[in-house]
Amino acid sequence: MIYRPRRLRRTAGLRALVREHHVRVERLVQPIFVAERNEDAGPISPMPGIERFTLDGAVNECRALHALGVRSVLLFGIPAHKDAVASSNYDPKGIVQRAIRAIHAVLPDMTVVADLCNCEYTDHGHCGVLNERGEVLNDKTVDLLVKAAITYAEAGVDCIAPSDMMDGRVGAIRSALDARGFDDVVIMAYSAKYASAFYGPFREAAGSAPQRGDRRGYQMDPPNAREALREIALDIEEGADIVMVKPALPYLDIVRAARDAFDVPIAAYNVSGEYAMLMAAVQNGWLERDRAIDEMLACFVRAGADIIITYFAKEYAARPHSHA
Ligand code: PBG
Repeated sequence: MIYRPRRLRRTAGLRALVREHHVRVERLVQPIFVAERNEDAGPISPMPGIERFTLDGAVNECRALHALGVRSVLLFGIPAHKDAVASSNYDPKGIVQRAIRAIHAVLPDMTVVADLCNCEYTDHGHCGVLNERGEVLNDKTVDLLVKAAITYAEAGVDCIAPSDMMDGRVGAIRSALDARGFDDVVIMAYSAKYASAFYGPFREAAGSAPQRGDRRGYQMDPPNAREALREIALDIEEGADIVMVKPALPYLDIVRAARDAFDVPIAAYNVSGEYAMLMAAVQNGWLERDRAIDEMLACFVRAGADIIITYFAKEYAARPHSHA
């Protein structure tokens, strides 16, 4: 007698009965680009369906997401002014600080996460302060991140997500927040963030491509896996509540390794280039959109991600899911 695994695949009902993993809309986070100047709002050509919002547009988008059951957003600011020290990032009236307040004013139970990095705010496009050789200075950059984090907390952010990859930033942000009574602000650390080609469309959207050089001096080298676990362990020791692996699709082995090694919630960031890649194939008629999206999101869950940050959150939530 042979055992016949196909028996459990015969009908949609049986498949649903034995399905091991599920995508939950409440665990999806939609990234939102919010521009300080209205003229910077508009479509993002490599990311069809995604746009840069004005402040009002971002609030409306959050209303729509909330109604669909997506209750978490990740904010990225596109400031009017850039300089060498990212001063718009720690301006209490900066675009992210205003967006946090505006979203919470109409949707108090929306979980507002603010990406924390300097690259959208520096004129040179790097994630921190540069020395004369054009290298990012770690500790001076951490000081700037701490300054910005405090202003996000003062604006009422629920969660701060440092994406800069400076050493020691999680600990510095945690103690600065705690010292000011913001002990309830969550830190979701971009812990295993790789120097990836898949951020290309994002940099076009956020205007944050480095003018010279690249980010390999601070983001991780793609072939490394053990180092990711070391980075995650450090961030947890420093006080991270949630740790992230980024990108997601080519790094599912890292998501799985992190899930097996640590007991904190793990987030996977399905980045802009992954979105662009799938949408380009869909627009060419080469991939079936809904099926490809459902499969991809389910695979993130299967790999061990608790939280998925994805540009597909809204459209996933807007569709009925039979899981046939
Ligand atoms: C900021 C930041 C980036 C992304 C998230 N935060 C860009 C980068 O590191 O160059 C990428 C997100 C995406 O590609 O969707 N440092």
